Order: sequence, then structure tokens, then C-alpha cells
Amino acid sequence: VDLHVSFDGRANLAGQIYQQIRAAVLDGRLRPGETLPPSRELARRLAVSRNTVGLAYDRLAAEGFVTTRAGAGTYVSALLFPDGPATGGSDPPARSGGSLRPRPIWSGIPLPPDLSAMPAFDFRVGLPDVRLFPYATWRRLVGEQLRASAMGSGMAGEPAGHPGLRIAIARHIRVSRAVHTSPQDVLVTNGIQQAIDLIGRVLLEPGACVAVEDPGYRPPQLLFESLGTRIVGIPVDGEGLIVDALPADARMIYVTPSHQFPTGVAMSLPRRIALLSWAERHDAAIIEDDYDSEFRYAGQPLEPLQSLDRSGRVLYLGSFSKTMLPTLRLGFLVAPASLRHALQAAKFVTDWHTAQPAQAALAEFIDEGGLARHIRRMRNEYQARHERIADELTGPMARWLEPIPSAAGLHLSAYLKDGTTEDLRRLLARAHAAGVELYELPQGTTVVPAGYLSRRPAQPVLLIGYGGIPTDRLDEGLRRLRRCLETL
Ligand SMILES: Cc1ncc(COP(=O)(O)O)c(C=O)c1O
Repeated sequence: VDLHVSFDGRANLAGQIYQQIRAAVLDGRLRPGETLPPSRELARRLAVSRNTVGLAYDRLAAEGFVTTRAGAGTYVSALLFPDGPATGGSDPPARSGGSLRPRPIWSGIPLPPDLSAMPAFDFRVGLPDVRLFPYATWRRLVGEQLRASAMGSGMAGEPAGHPGLRIAIARHIRVSRAVHTSPQDVLVTNGIQQAIDLIGRVLLEPGACVAVEDPGYRPPQLLFESLGTRIVGIPVDGEGLIVDALPADARMIYVTPSHQFPTGVAMSLPRRIALLSWAERHDAAIIEDDYDSEFRYAGQPLEPLQSLDRSGRVLYLGSFSKTMLPTLRLGFLVAPASLRHALQAAKFVTDWHTAQPAQAALAEFIDEGGLARHIRRMRNEYQARHERIADELTGPMARWLEPIPSAAGLHLSAYLKDGTTEDLRRLLARAHAAGVELYELPQGTTVVPAGYLSRRPAQPVLLIGYGGIPTDRLDEGLRRLRRCLETL
């Protein structure tokens, strides 16, 4: 390990080295088996004689803290703490106190919940099936990038992203989504969340009004809050966001038109046209979050807002979180040319660029057809799950649930018929006890608690995700859920 030793004066240097290493072993910072730096190297770093370090090491060895073996060097004795070091090997408690205070805005912004648990029957929304990812191919592609010959000069890359990846993404979305774009319009980001951050930095003044769907996807709302903007929730009905409910001073409208999150509704064509025309009249920007539209099981996808846009007001966002893995943190934005420089500059000053080896590997993955193959395979897989759940909702579960029509994405939503929010909570608790994990439509997710589907304001909604549950566990998961419904 790269050991830190600091001297308090120049007296008894060997004693000081001994004391500090001993303390590090006792409190678990140095763990059994970890090697100390060679005495010659530590002496050079500390500007002391090798003899001084030798004295300290000899004393530590004599007392059993370290062991020295020819060829293996000096390392912390493995036998010292058979049950772990004195502190239990855990990290020392975080330092409390400190007189610095964050800006007040941050006190209202939570950390994400711990989602690491793996329920037996996982119907949580937002997950793709991580078991079916082509890991071997991805390992090969990333491995090829982690060679000196692929690293070039090692200097930082372009803020807008790896040139080959921008070409590959532009081609991919031109073909699969009819997005009007060229590689110059594409900026590679660490997921959609970062794309929204960059757009907010570039377009929003503090206090500006941002309209979001209600209910809607929460992380962008938190981001807008952190930028000091004013957020207004706009209700959603069976055709998507209700354009007539937009306040005249909205500077930006964030929408998920392909597959509204979380209701699953697709924004109708008249609504799309109305939204674009509203934005033009009010000089507002539209963020089109197209997070999971690759998974569509019936009908033709509607044209993205981006390709219907005639006045350069739409910023189109895509993510590899659903088509690949959410933990890769890879996404992109397509912006009108008027914002290109500012967005690239915002990317530069926030994190310079997204990790280059992953970008280069992704470019290869798209170019050699791996992404399209994986999407095709997963679409079949998810479609089977979607149909199985839809059959269940319109069949055996129809007594209790009414599905909201949806033919895309990785989850379905359904009203709890004749039930209250309390009933739904009881259902979720019972399901949890049976190993079945589901979410309800979050209540109060937006700042203005407007109704979600304006037709039926108060009816609780259950969300059923199918990305995380293997197809062969679906029947048993649904059977358990049905039993919980029967006992409601
Ligand atoms: C509406 C919506 N947008 C975007 C994302 C993905 O964002 P990111 O690319 O930051 O992972 C999700 C993931 O659950 C989502 O539900």
C-alpha cells in the first residue's frame, strides 16, 4: 500500500514511523496480508535513512504486527487478528460535525433508496433483465479498448463524445426512431439524467418555470429543483400531457411521449402537434425523454416530437440503461444546432467527457450489430412477459384491477378497482411478505399534486414491471399476487 506517514518534528523518526504503522494496523486501515512499502522506497519518500525505516519495521516485526519473508517483503501479519482487526475491520466512523453548510436547496433533495435487495419475484419498474446481457461480447469489446494501442495519446477526448459513437448513435436513431439528426447534433452523456442536467444549465435561469408530467419520473424533477427552478406538475390523461393545462410562463416542458412514465400512455399525434405549437407560441423548450421506446409490442410507434419539430425546440434524449445496463451510465442527447456549442461546453466543465473506453466499445457494439441483436432478443422476451401480464390483468385479475392500455416499455400499470390507497398499500405489504415486490404509483411525486389521469383522479394505481423477473418465474409471481388480491 501507499502508506501515509507524517512527522511531528524530526525527533525519534523511527519511533514515529513505528507508531503510525502500528496504529494503522490496530484500527484496521492496514489489513492482514497487505504489504508495506519496501524500506528503501519508504525511506526515499520520507527523506530519512533506510536504517530509520529498518528500525521501525524490525520493532513491528518483533512485536508480531508484521512479518518479513524473503521475496514477499514485509506485510501485516495474517495471524494477528483471526477475527478481524480490533475495530472489527469496518471503516472508522464518519467524521461528524464540520462548520460548512450546503445551500439550503440541498436539504430537500434526497438520496436514492437502496435498491440492492433481490426479491424472489421482482416486479419493480425501471429494470431491464440484467441476466440476459451479452457479457462475453461486451467484455471483449471493452478489453480491446483497454490496450495501450487503443488509448492513443491518452489525452482527454472530445466533450461531445467519441466520434465513432456519435456516428453510430445518429445512424441507429435515424433508422430505428426516424429522428432527424447527424452525428454533429449528438452529445454522449452519462445517461439521460446528465443530459437533463446539461440542458438545465444551458437554458434555465434560477426561478424559471419548468413543466413536468404529473405523475412523472422523479429524478429530473429533483434536478430541476436543485437548479433553483419552479416546477409545475401538469396532469396526464389517456392522450398524454394535457397541453391546455400548461402555465403561460413555462420555459421548459419535460415529457415522456413514447411511453409516459409511469402510466404507460403514448402521447397522441394531435397532442404532439398541440404541444409543439404551444412551445412555439410561448418560446419554450421541450425535452423529449425517449427512455424505453425500443421495446414496442404492437402498432407503429408515433413519430418522435423531435422529427415533427419545425422550429428547433425539441431536445431528444436516449439511454442505454434499458437496452443494455443501467449501471453503465450511458446515454445521449440530440440538440438543435443553436445549442450545440453551449451544451458541449457544459459537458466539458462538468466532467469533460464520458469514459472513453466504454464509448469506443459501444460504438463497436452498435457497428457490429450487437446492440440491434440484443434489442431484438429482449423485445421478444419482454413481449412474452408483457402479454402474459396483460392476459392476467384482463382475465383472472380483472375483478380487482383495470389495466391502463400500453403496448411498450418494461412495465404495465393498472387501477385498483373499488380500492383506496390504503388497500393498495396493504396489498403491496402482503405481496412483499410473499416475496413479490411491486410499486404503487407514487403519490405526491410532483410539486403540484394534480390528478394523474384527469378522468379518474383518486383511483390508486399499481405498477407491474417485467424487466427484472425471468419469464419462467412469471407465472408463480402472478399466482402469488393473485392470492394477495383474493385476501384483500
Ligand atoms: C422516464 C425515464 N427516463 C430516463 C430513465 C433512464 O435514465 P438514465 O439514462 O439516466 O439511466 C428512466 C429509467 O428508469 C426513466 O424511467
